[in-house]
Amino acid sequence: CRMSAQQMLKVFVTRRIPQEGMKILQKAGMCNLSVWDSDEPVPRAELLKGVAGAHGLLCLLSDKVDAEVLDAAGPNLKVISTLSVGFDHLAIDEIKKRGIRVGYTPDVLTDATAELTVALLLATARRLPEGVEEVKNGGWSTWKPLWLCGYGLSGSTVGVIGLGRIGLAIARRLKPFGVKRLLYTGRQPKPQAQEVDGEYVPLDTLVRESDFVVVSCSLTPDTQGLCDKTFFSKMKKTSIFINTSRGAVVNQEDLFEALSSGQIAAAGLDVTTPEPLPTNHPLLTLNNCVVLPHIGSATYSTRGVMSELTANNLLAGLTGSEMPSELKL
Ligand code: NDP
Ligand code: DGY
Repeated sequence: CRMSAQQMLKVFVTRRIPQEGMKILQKAGMCNLSVWDSDEPVPRAELLKGVAGAHGLLCLLSDKVDAEVLDAAGPNLKVISTLSVGFDHLAIDEIKKRGIRVGYTPDVLTDATAELTVALLLATARRLPEGVEEVKNGGWSTWKPLWLCGYGLSGSTVGVIGLGRIGLAIARRLKPFGVKRLLYTGRQPKPQAQEVDGEYVPLDTLVRESDFVVVSCSLTPDTQGLCDKTFFSKMKKTSIFINTSRGAVVNQEDLFEALSSGQIAAAGLDVTTPEPLPTNHPLLTLNNCVVLPHIGSATYSTRGVMSELTANNLLAGLTGSEMPSELKL
């Protein structure tokens, strides 16, 4: 049923999103949609303006939704739906205090993100970006026995920090490469780990024994800065560090030091602080550091499904019905 103009619920969308989601919002016929119609993030001042009086906010991981934004929105705000599974950009305590519901996008991006993590791991371990560059710049003189050698997964020990949805999907994909031991850490052992013969170990053991350390946990006060000088100093000189969670889990100065001093062999990062990483950042001067622009979930179909789910979460929040994916606060 269509609503009259006065009954229409105000929704602020902070970016141009895949059309799958926009179609759902438009078809619902209950939203007075206001969209920051750009591929670039909404400036803070425009976010504060756009959200004023909104019943619903559809946001992205690049929008910091804190008390200031919630105050700017005012008491109408019923639902925040984020086009992401990560929710470290949302001030959850403040949101909960105001009785606002939150929708997010778990599961639908797990496969895409796990695939990208495997791609990044292999690209880093086998030095693909360096190789591609050498082909282009004439550095490829002939086949050389010791040129561009890297590390393989066969017979290796892989350590996954945070065996959640994505961590487990990464482990499932890596095991068939001949991984000998699969270690993991987290807040508690996971029954699902059996499927990948995962061994629950203390972080210290994981860091010391793994040939590949893969970070796939969420960013929380506990995981912020987890990968620091002490962490890297425990890794083997031949080990590879991969992060597809959030940049802030890593102390980047300490990572730079570990990579440039040969304390660890290489790193592959899909996430950094800040994003984008400035083009003159020291990490980008290193051959043994592969940096991607946060493309874990970037397949056409995944982004389409994320957009749909984000729209459906928002509508459910507006109508007070069950959300397809509600974050339990
Ligand atoms: P889950 O909630 O399923 O997994 C997160 C895992 O982190 C859980 O297993 C949790 O363990 C673990 N964890 C929490 N605290 C700690 C800690 N102190 N030490 C070790 N592990 C910890 O989420 P997803 O797997 O769906 O997503 C994980 C994260 O990946 C997202 O939060 C997001 O930041 C990132 N992401 C990045 C993408 C990209 O494009 N690069 C794409 C999608 C997600 P426990 O179960 O014990 O609480
Ligand atoms: C997320 O969903 O948290 C990712 O970082 C982007 O898909």
